[in-house]
Amino acid sequence: MKIAIIGAGSGYMPGVIRGILHRAEDLAGTELACHDIDTGQLVTMTRLARAMFSARGAGIAVSAHTDLKAALDGASYVFTTFRPGGLAARHLDESIPLRHGVVGQETAGPGGFLMALRSVPVLLEIAAAAPDAWIVNYTNPTNIVTDAVARTTGARVIGLCDQAIGDTEMWADLLGLPFEGLEADWIGLNHATWAQRLRLDGHELDLPGLLDELEIPGGGATPWRDPSRMAELAKTLGFLPNSYAKYYFFHDDVVEELRAKGTTRAQDILAMLPAYYEQVAAESRKADPDPSRERGGGEHGEFAVDVICALHRDEGRRMIVNTRNNGAISSLDADAIVEVPSLVGRAGPVPLTMGPLPGPVRGLTQAIHAYERLASEAAVTGDRRTALQALMAHPFVRGKHTAEKILDEGLAAHRDHLPQFT
Ligand code: G6P
Ligand code: MN
Repeated sequence: MKIAIIGAGSGYMPGVIRGILHRAEDLAGTELACHDIDTGQLVTMTRLARAMFSARGAGIAVSAHTDLKAALDGASYVFTTFRPGGLAARHLDESIPLRHGVVGQETAGPGGFLMALRSVPVLLEIAAAAPDAWIVNYTNPTNIVTDAVARTTGARVIGLCDQAIGDTEMWADLLGLPFEGLEADWIGLNHATWAQRLRLDGHELDLPGLLDELEIPGGGATPWRDPSRMAELAKTLGFLPNSYAKYYFFHDDVVEELRAKGTTRAQDILAMLPAYYEQVAAESRKADPDPSRERGGGEHGEFAVDVICALHRDEGRRMIVNTRNNGAISSLDADAIVEVPSLVGRAGPVPLTMGPLPGPVRGLTQAIHAYERLASEAAVTGDRRTALQALMAHPFVRGKHTAEKILDEGLAAHRDHLPQFT
């Protein structure tokens, strides 16, 4: 079996290698074809993979490619995990909307819209070059990318995000529950999911009761967690919001905070990356490397590898993934790409019937879906009017003029990555 990894020079790659190691027995004999356009990082990551596999005696062959066709040739699974334009482009995604009073946000916000315009053409090229493979996509915004690929190519595609796992862990901390054995039914759209049901070791918990007792913790936000706002929201909504809900319900506060902070998240990451890559490169030269977990150190890699194993081994495993709704969430279109608990096996994810979205966020989630459909269409066609309609439909963007400014500045700033708009 051959797995192609597109974006293998990514800082998340050490986590992916760990993920492969944790399923090494199931993946014995696999060929891992690593592709990146950054040769230096590709060399580091493939050397690291070989060293880590050989230190653990894992029978996995590693090849390195800068030619996309060669990497894809004969692959059964194509794992896409790249950021077109890199973090420099993310900085623009985050800062252009903020100049106009809107949180940019690299996935959920209009920053994610600009990223979708860059990501979709590359994914369509990959899908066309690997028509028989499963595309296991982490490239953000994963929902819009998955929608565009599914609609326009007929390829088999599954959209990934590890947020459901990370948010379940955050809620375990907040509610004083063990993370092990805790399962939340996150439903909705990627980075706009909600959980009304929570189980521990298979037993349904009294979520309204737990939220009544929940005390709002003090303390500020970290790049990944904002416990105080999450608790405040959950107590009002009566169910669990995902971490990105803060951008919808505290939008203007976040604008103020980001302006006061002065740097974008992209700049913060760019500042730490040289030392990170240096550490990873140094470890890659050791017999038994232990690379830093500072990027993608959580469940990210393991989750992706578990999804590939579930597809390949026809496991029918219950996993929260992005796939076509087909009625699983009754409040969203049947052909919407939704994030929903699904049984993942050889035929792909089968979404489980979850009923309607909770009333307090039903309209919001439907509005986000309307935006995502337009964004997907604009990213495929390069039609400026559809792109403007998408931004006008986005819940963060209030007004046509703001939408026009973000679109014009975004298209100009990213023009080298937007062949469909020329
Ligand atoms: C979470 C989200 C990802 C996102 C990442 C950004 O993991 O689920 O979709 O890309 O956060 O994290 P970063 O450290 O790059 O800000
Ligand atoms: Mn995500």
